Amino acid sequence: MPAFPNLLPRGGWFYTTAAIVLSLLALEQTVYRYKKRHLPGDRWTIPIIGKFADSLHPTMEGYMKQWQSGALSALSVFNIFIVMASTNEYARKILNSPTHAEPCLVHSAKQVLDPENWVFLTGKEHVEYRRGLNSLFTRKALGLYIGIQDTITRKHFARWLEAAKDGKPKPIMMTARDLNMETSLAVFCGSHIPEKAAKEISEKYWDITCALELVNFPLALPGTKVYRAIQARKVAMKWLEFAAKKSKESVAAGNAPECMLEEWVAVLSEPTYKGRKDFTDNEMAMVVFSFLFASQDAMSSGLIYGFQHLADHPEVLAKIKEEQERVRRGDYEKPLTLEMMDEMPYLRAMVKETLRLKPPVTMVPYKTTKSFPISDDYTVPAGSMVIPAFYLSLHDPEVYPEPESFLPERWLDPQSSANTNPKNYLTFGSGPHKCIGLEYAMMNIGLVLADATVLMDWEHVATPESDKVQIIATLFPKDGCLLRLTPREHI
Ligand code: HEM
Repeated sequence: MPAFPNLLPRGGWFYTTAAIVLSLLALEQTVYRYKKRHLPGDRWTIPIIGKFADSLHPTMEGYMKQWQSGALSALSVFNIFIVMASTNEYARKILNSPTHAEPCLVHSAKQVLDPENWVFLTGKEHVEYRRGLNSLFTRKALGLYIGIQDTITRKHFARWLEAAKDGKPKPIMMTARDLNMETSLAVFCGSHIPEKAAKEISEKYWDITCALELVNFPLALPGTKVYRAIQARKVAMKWLEFAAKKSKESVAAGNAPECMLEEWVAVLSEPTYKGRKDFTDNEMAMVVFSFLFASQDAMSSGLIYGFQHLADHPEVLAKIKEEQERVRRGDYEKPLTLEMMDEMPYLRAMVKETLRLKPPVTMVPYKTTKSFPISDDYTVPAGSMVIPAFYLSLHDPEVYPEPESFLPERWLDPQSSANTNPKNYLTFGSGPHKCIGLEYAMMNIGLVLADATVLMDWEHVATPESDKVQIIATLFPKDGCLLRLTPREHI
């Protein structure tokens, strides 16, 4: 006879556990349906994981289906309730409502970037911190960067052409990423990052890209993508802190700034500078890391599609070449300057168009900090993810006639619907978190493509995958864009 009689009949624990599990599952469905209300989206969510499998392997077709299902639509991943906003009006409303929603980037961003990173500041604190960083993107600062960009670009093209001597087409997916990383590190940190370290950072950075899924496995356990990304950040941060220290020393020694970090240190020490002046090496490194994080994938995507669009549209390429020849006047070795870029309106229009047609960033996840009455008949519950999607805005046929065509000319006429509806151009977002590096990004993509047109001929070897989109944080052609390169002969 047991001391305590078993109060449950035989198999009772099983039935009790089953009853609890079933109640929790029923509760999960009830909460999902309560939050979703009348929005389009699955009527039931897959227990516990929701649409996790889709978020691991996102496809354009899947996203298009979601965006086209309604101006607002609902889904759930790992019990995170998500509202997707596909129209221009709702996307801008989210981006411009800092009292209701703040960026959460992708789910893993805080772990990957470090919760202390400035990009997670909100409200007044964010506005003030960001104001201090604007000095890194002034025309004066861009004038300093452009020479560095030109040098690195030419160095990489020489390597690309060397590798192309076998006559075989090669995907530029990874080579364009490497070019971008070396350019970014040289612009941000000058010569303070040795080439060996730049290579290490570039290789490890792929782990960060791979961790940028909408929602990750919740725990950053060893072996998971988020864990690997955190290790990659630690390697990059070690070098960036070193570069910040060296930049301070160089400016203190009276040297003129030669990179973004040095420019920043110099600006802070100007007697007229009013903002906060003291930044630790770690804080400076975190800012530079936030720029790498925000730019590496988007810039690579923009560049790769730039090459592909130009190669597939010889009539546009011919106009770019014509413009290059007019501005460079036969001198193809002379590095580009901002003044020369100012004389290239067609190049700028082409960059704007390629970034419209294939926007690298198709959406930016935000999180509601309180209930957000987004429309007359729907309020997004507090603590939800709310995602403004940009693709449909950028492909709106009312604003961009023939939206699937690559037509840089639409940006040349100041009266065109593209130019008179700037609110639709969400490639760089909108509102208080709008991309701080947009001018630098446009300039860099333009510069690389401009140099490419005068230094190389390139043929896109199209495959059945060329027009299919692969989403690895940003958009890429599925075949990595196979180019056959040859040096360009100028007669
Ligand atoms: C083609 C290249 C790029 C694209 C398409 C792009 C796009 C974007 C988008 C869509 C956002 C979010 C805007 C919002 O929430 O409203 C953003 C934010 C940001 N971008 Fe870019 N970006 C690019 C390049 C760059 C570069 C080169 C840098 C820095 C050097 C940069 C730094 C940032 C930063 C720091 C933010 C966050 C700003 C804040 O929270 O205040 N981006 N970018």
